[in-house]
Amino acid sequence: MSLHIAAGPGDIAPVVLMPGDPLRARWIAETMLDDARCYTEIRGMYGFTGTWRGQRVSVQGSGMGQPSLAIYAHELFAEYDVASIIRIGSCGSMTQRVNLGDVVIASGACTDSGMNRLRFEGFDYAPVADFGLLRAAHAAAQHVHTPYATHVGLILSTDAFYAPRPELVSRLADYQVLAVEMEASALYTLAAQHGRRALAVCTVSDHLLTNEKMSALEREQSFTPMVEIALGAALSQH
Ligand code: HPA
Repeated sequence: MSLHIAAGPGDIAPVVLMPGDPLRARWIAETMLDDARCYTEIRGMYGFTGTWRGQRVSVQGSGMGQPSLAIYAHELFAEYDVASIIRIGSCGSMTQRVNLGDVVIASGACTDSGMNRLRFEGFDYAPVADFGLLRAAHAAAQHVHTPYATHVGLILSTDAFYAPRPELVSRLADYQVLAVEMEASALYTLAAQHGRRALAVCTVSDHLLTNEKMSALEREQSFTPMVEIALGAALSQH
């Protein structure tokens, strides 16, 4: 039992998938895992452990934004000895190269957040994905049945969903940043601090240049391939 997670010792698998939305965690547990059991409901931030292809996997909601994710990731690493966290979520495309429904596997995460300023003051730390997880996710993506493309590259983890300075977001696009979400930078930093592994796999739910947004049906259809890519990466950890 930790402050925000009600699990006992051994309740959480060494590999954890982490969607922002706790209801997505429940959906994954109920429809994709075998023998799933809920280990926490504190604040409605559900966590489940089950098996996928015979291997134990947990799914834990993180909430939106880096401060929320950091609470759950910190407790998983520090109190439950979790070895790997794979974030799954949505992102907004910042470039013509990346289309609605595509998957972006984040090799690294830029940020406008205060989180790493608290940690590193004037230094700019470069939060990066675990290479083994990244390679495994990319390999898994080749086998997942989906009409959408997979990209590997930089993303932006912003603190502000409604960008107060959109011109700064487009400047980052000039430097090959592909998409924007709100969690990966803190996740990669915490994994590094604890000597553990992390990866973020995101589907493009909206496009900042064209203003297109996925319909509810498209979101649903693109969600399963992303989870399969993340589970493929999770299996590589066993
Ligand atoms: N901005 C930030 N986070 C997001 C977005 C976005 O446009 N789309 C999905 N997550």
